Amino acid sequence: MENIDKMALEILGSKKFSMLGLEYLESVIFWFLDKDESKNVKKIILEGDYDIFRKNRHYKKFLKTLKAFLHDTYGVYQVKNIHKRDEIFEVMKKTKDTTKLLKLHEDILHCHSSSRERGKNYNEIYKKIFSHNKKPKVILDLGCGLNVFSMPFMNLKNFKYIGVEPVKEDVELINDYIKNFGKVYGFSGMGVYGNFFDKKYLKIISEIKSDFCFLFKMTDVLDYGKNDHKRTEEFLKKINSKCTVVSFPTKTVSNKKMNKPRRKWFELMIVRLGFELDYFEINNEIFYLLKS
Ligand SMILES: C[S@@+](CC[C@H](N)C(=O)[O-])C[C@H]1O[C@@H](n2cnc3c(N)ncnc32)[C@H](O)[C@@H]1O
Repeated sequence: MENIDKMALEILGSKKFSMLGLEYLESVIFWFLDKDESKNVKKIILEGDYDIFRKNRHYKKFLKTLKAFLHDTYGVYQVKNIHKRDEIFEVMKKTKDTTKLLKLHEDILHCHSSSRERGKNYNEIYKKIFSHNKKPKVILDLGCGLNVFSMPFMNLKNFKYIGVEPVKEDVELINDYIKNFGKVYGFSGMGVYGNFFDKKYLKIISEIKSDFCFLFKMTDVLDYGKNDHKRTEEFLKKINSKCTVVSFPTKTVSNKKMNKPRRKWFELMIVRLGFELDYFEINNEIFYLLKS
């Protein structure tokens, strides 16, 4: 255990991963150790001397893969200046003017690449999503990023928003926002810690009943490191929601428009799982609405 702490602290020491938080990092390290097919690294980490094994080539390879995972599933979505969103949030707390306040929401949504890509389309996206149910009571947002700052664009009232993220600082920001602005925009809720690679969260998620569950741009994260979509399927089966909204980007990582943005594998899976399917596309994103 002591070695795991040392590893985690060393990773947290690099600026790029400094936000991740010990709890999440340690759970990712254990998950990777369990996946380590040769079991060599598990043995040397659990039994070896940290100062010696950190120079071991198998260990170095293990660390490289782990850092690549952290980058691809978390780091890549953050803006360079990770403190910018906190600075904007501090200004928000002092702002009374409603127009300025809305503009600050847009600015903070720019601090996460997924919400930045939606730009000014949130109003239109939510209008479509809630076209058949304008009075949801509970909205669950899995891997929510900074979406809590898009609540004013929903134009709904009296609902509960639950946003799930694996990094404590993000969860604190969500809770701080709801504490300060929930009443202003007419909703309540909370940010919750969750690591979707830890099986226990699948059970926890299945116990949360919601009217809408968002899985915006999450399938690549869920299916990370696999050649199949089994983890996405596991989630879809467990989510306990009247309507699950799954979105996908329609641009590649190199910013090119995809020729065939609709995901055939996903549409086939949905038919097989027996969901009713609705579909719309807005700007750079496609949305599937699944009803059971
Ligand atoms: C592509 S972004 C989507 C964010 C948000 N759903 C949106 O579309 O605005 C993927 C999100 O998954 C979150 N994530 C990464 N690893 C995760 C994990 N192990 N458990 C839960 N969420 C995770 C990231 O922090 C990130 O916010």
